[in-house]
Amino acid sequence: MMTNSEVLSLLLTRRPWHSLPQAFYRDAGAYEADLAQIWYKDWIYAVAGPELPKTGSYVTVQIGTYSVIVVRGADGIARAFHNSCRHRGSRICSAEKGTSPKIVCPYHQWTYELDGRLLWAREMGPDFKPGDHGLGAVHCREIQGMIFICLGKEAPDTAALEAQAARYLAPHDLSNLKVAHQSKIIEKANWKLVLENNRECYHCSANHPALCVTFPDDPNLVGADDSTSSNMGKAHVERCEAAGLPSKYAIAPSEQWRFVRIPFLGNGVSYTMDGKAAVTKRVGSMPFDNAGSCLYFHYPNTWNHFLSDHVLTFRVLPIGPEETEVTTTWMVHKDAVEGVDYDLNRLTEVWIATNDEDRRIVEENQKGINTPAYVPGPYSQVEEGGVNQFVDWYCRSLQAGLVGRAAVAAE
Ligand code: FES
Ligand SMILES: [Fe+2]
Repeated sequence: MMTNSEVLSLLLTRRPWHSLPQAFYRDAGAYEADLAQIWYKDWIYAVAGPELPKTGSYVTVQIGTYSVIVVRGADGIARAFHNSCRHRGSRICSAEKGTSPKIVCPYHQWTYELDGRLLWAREMGPDFKPGDHGLGAVHCREIQGMIFICLGKEAPDTAALEAQAARYLAPHDLSNLKVAHQSKIIEKANWKLVLENNRECYHCSANHPALCVTFPDDPNLVGADDSTSSNMGKAHVERCEAAGLPSKYAIAPSEQWRFVRIPFLGNGVSYTMDGKAAVTKRVGSMPFDNAGSCLYFHYPNTWNHFLSDHVLTFRVLPIGPEETEVTTTWMVHKDAVEGVDYDLNRLTEVWIATNDEDRRIVEENQKGINTPAYVPGPYSQVEEGGVNQFVDWYCRSLQAGLVGRAAVAAE
C-alpha cells in the first residue's frame, strides 16, 4: 500500500495523453488518496430530487467510510447528515431509502427532527442539552433537481455551476418528474475506469448496438470538443438555441463540469430501439421532441442525459480499489402513466443493455491492467480527448490535494 508521498511521486511521472500507471487503478494507498483528496472534498451527486418526493423521504449514501442520510424536510428543502447518532454513535438509518416523519435511532430511540435537531432523548438528566446534540450536518445543495453533497469542512463554490445548470436544465424541470425506474450495478473495476470509459465513444460502435441506433459516436459531438466543430452539431445547436434552449458547449474553467446539447442520429428523438420517443408526455417546457440530449457531466461521479421525453442520471460511487457502484435513474413527467404514456421496457432497454456492456468492458480493462505486463498506453488524439480531459482533471485535483496536505504537514 503506497504512502501519500509515493502516490504523489508516481503521479508526477505520468505521461501526458497516456493511461495512468497501474497503481492508480488498484493500489489501496492510491485509493485512500482518491477518497481523501477528491471524494471527501468535492461535491458528489447523491440523489435525484424526485427520489425524495415528500416530507421525510430519505436516501442513505455511502462514500468511502462515510454514511450520509439525505432527507427532505417539511419546508421542501433537502438536507444531509452524518448517519451516526449523537448518543453513542450507532448508525441510524440502515435502509437504502424510505420515508419517516422523524429520524429515530433504533438503539435507544433518540429522536431527531428532519432538520437534524435533537428533539427527544430519554432520561438524560437535567443538565443534558439537546441543542448540543443535533446530527452532524453535511453540505447539501439541490441544483436543478439533482442533490449534491460535500463532506469537506468547506464546500467548493457552486455559483457558476448553478447559473449554467439553470440555463441548460430548467427546461427539463427535473424537480417535477418522477422516478420510472432505477438500476444499481456493481462493476469490478476502479472508479476511474468507469469514468474513463464514459468519456469516450471510441468503443461504442463495436460494443453498443442498441445505443448506436440513435446515439452518435462522433468525437466532435461527444468528446472534449465544442460540438459545433461537427456540422450536425452546429445545425442542432443553432436550431435549439433559436427555440430558446441553451445548447452550446459550456465547460467550467476547471473542466470539472460541462453542458452541451447534441443531436440524435437521423430522425431519432430518444434512446429507443426504433428511435421514437419512449414517453408521449414531454418533460418540462421542452418545445419539440427532437431536441437531442443535453449531456451534463460533473466530476468525479456523474454524467447525465436530459432529453425531451425523459431524463437519465448516472451516479458513480467507489466501493473499493477495484469495485464501483453505478446507479442509473430514469425519470419521466410526473403525470405520465406507465402502460399508457410509456412502456417501461421500451424506456429502459437501451441503457440497461448499454450499462451491462460497459460493465463488461471496464471489468476486462481492470483485469488487463492488473497483469504485471501492463504499461500505460497512448490515447487517440481524435477519439479520446474526453478521457484525457478527465484524467487531467483527476491528476490536477489529486496533486493539489496531496501537495496542500504535505505543505500543512511540513508547517
Ligand atoms: S446510539 Fe443512538 S440512541 Fe443510543
Ligand atoms: Fe460505453
